[in-house]
Amino acid sequence: MQSFEQLSSQFGSFFNQAHFPAQPESLYRPAEYFLGLGGKRVRPVCCLMGNELFDEILPDTWQVATAIELFHNFTLIHDDIMDKAPLRRGLETVHIKYGEPTALLAGDVMLVVAYDYLNKVKSPHYHRLVSLFNTTAKEVCEGQQLDMDFEKQDTVSLDAYLHMIELKTSVLLAASLKLGAILGGAGEGNLHHIYEFGKNLGIAFQVQDDYLDCFGDPSKFGKQVGGDILSNKKTFLLIRALETAQGKDQQDLQALLQSNPPDKVQQVLRIYKNTGVDQWAVQLKNQFMEKALQHLDDIAVLSKRKEPLRQLAHFLVQRDY
Ligand code: IPE
Ligand code: IPE
Ligand code: MG
Ligand code: MG
Ligand code: MG
Repeated sequence: MQSFEQLSSQFGSFFNQAHFPAQPESLYRPAEYFLGLGGKRVRPVCCLMGNELFDEILPDTWQVATAIELFHNFTLIHDDIMDKAPLRRGLETVHIKYGEPTALLAGDVMLVVAYDYLNKVKSPHYHRLVSLFNTTAKEVCEGQQLDMDFEKQDTVSLDAYLHMIELKTSVLLAASLKLGAILGGAGEGNLHHIYEFGKNLGIAFQVQDDYLDCFGDPSKFGKQVGGDILSNKKTFLLIRALETAQGKDQQDLQALLQSNPPDKVQQVLRIYKNTGVDQWAVQLKNQFMEKALQHLDDIAVLSKRKEPLRQLAHFLVQRDY
């Protein structure tokens, strides 16, 4: 069994090559630029680990892992347009560097090239893999739309937030693991548990992402700190602060949601700290981590084989980037 570091370095050797033709450079250079910024490569490694939990890694799994990482990068390029994000992985986002029309197309073509990789798969499970990939992709779109709809709503319930992050983020982690496990020949019971492991872990992963968006160290985080506050994103931090802030904090928070003063981020962060909502992240993450680890326990393979997934889970919810 290989660790996250081992698999991510192997995936890097497979993935770090040109995925696009040279011409027109105005389209493909921006696409290669974005892939060259790196990233943690969490989802393709999940796919490899999902396979390796049950059997040796097959050639097909590298193609599926590549398709998943390209799909993920496509969603990020478009997400950065939607979120008006200036920074990603420590450098300029594609739409800032090359303009929105090019960023849209660079994302589009990346999605299509993801399907070129899926199309190389020779497994008898091909149709099942494509069907899971497509269901997941549609769910990500649904989650992204809800995320934007929520920006305009005054209040959002915690359950609605959890549903939204399950769709926009956690189903892709879950599907990455399951796609690998299908290729590894896992049975239906194990497929169920690995998917549920990924889904609960993915929720904890997005909770950490939302926490870092407010409290991350800008030199490590690689994205603009406070971006979610500027867009009035209904993260668990805001939902919880709206529920618990008292007196002037409550009034100030309401007013800040209707305005954009130059110090909006600092003011909202001050209220988050006063109300202690930052500490709530730990509880929320633990709640979903516990569920995730229970499903991991329920997978019927030797416990020792699950160690890399256990380690990955802990890294994902404690990461600082
Ligand atoms: C960012 O995902 C988008 C979310 C779902 C939070 P990652 O944090 O995995 O981004 P990279 O690929 O490592 O940059
Ligand atoms: C993004 O959520 C989820 C997808 C890209 C589908 P965020 O908008 O929080 O991700 P970051 O913080 O920009 O990476
Ligand atoms: Mg974003
Ligand atoms: Mg977003
Ligand atoms: Mg975020």
